[in-house]
Amino acid sequence: MRYLTFALCKGRLAHKTLALLEELGITCEEMKDSASRKLIFVNEELKLKFFLAKGPDVPTYVEYGAADIGVVGKDIIIEEGRKVHEVLDLGFGSCRMCVCGPQSAAELLKHRELIRVATKYPNIAKDYFYNRKHQTVEIIKLNGSIELAPIVGLSEVIVDIVETGSTLRENGLSVLEEVCPLSARMIVNPVSMRMENERIRRLMQEIGKLVQEE
Ligand code: PRP
Repeated sequence: MRYLTFALCKGRLAHKTLALLEELGITCEEMKDSASRKLIFVNEELKLKFFLAKGPDVPTYVEYGAADIGVVGKDIIIEEGRKVHEVLDLGFGSCRMCVCGPQSAAELLKHRELIRVATKYPNIAKDYFYNRKHQTVEIIKLNGSIELAPIVGLSEVIVDIVETGSTLRENGLSVLEEVCPLSARMIVNPVSMRMENERIRRLMQEIGKLVQEE
């Protein structure tokens, strides 16, 4: 039997995914050692391999078949646009992609003004404003702490993830429009899906059942 390889998005999603797999008896003890600098972890018994990657790299590993299966946020799947099969909504990591800004920016959106939009997700922002809203905007790519942009005058609004809303509240910003709901998803390489169909399908079913119970 060949190894099935999982690429997990570093951070909270990886922890939740590993907890979910553990409930199915799929464990990887050596992955829990936070002091370790090891990059890839193996479960010899079940013929599984796991590695952690930066979110946007997960669909890349899966598209090229370097990983058979990936777990990553829907935001990254849409933004990256890779050729992968999205097979399961894992339910956790629920949040929303939103257009946010000071209340005063609501008028600018309403009148389709040529505004600046700061975001870590230029493709999602472009698709939303150009194809859904038919509004011409200038998109500015940032890499983090997006909420800063309207505060310091870099942009009028942002397109970003809202989970609890506390980052917005603490900075005097609000949700102005909702782009789409998000959560963690399981993705599969199209060739692996065909070649390892039985194994992957069984795994999907077991995980799917567990997710529904929770
Ligand atoms: C995300 C997002 C918001 C925040 C939203 O940031 O970009 O800033 O979480 O969460 P809340 O609604 O619960 O306050 P993240 O922590 O990933 O950091 P980054 O923006 O610096 O990448």
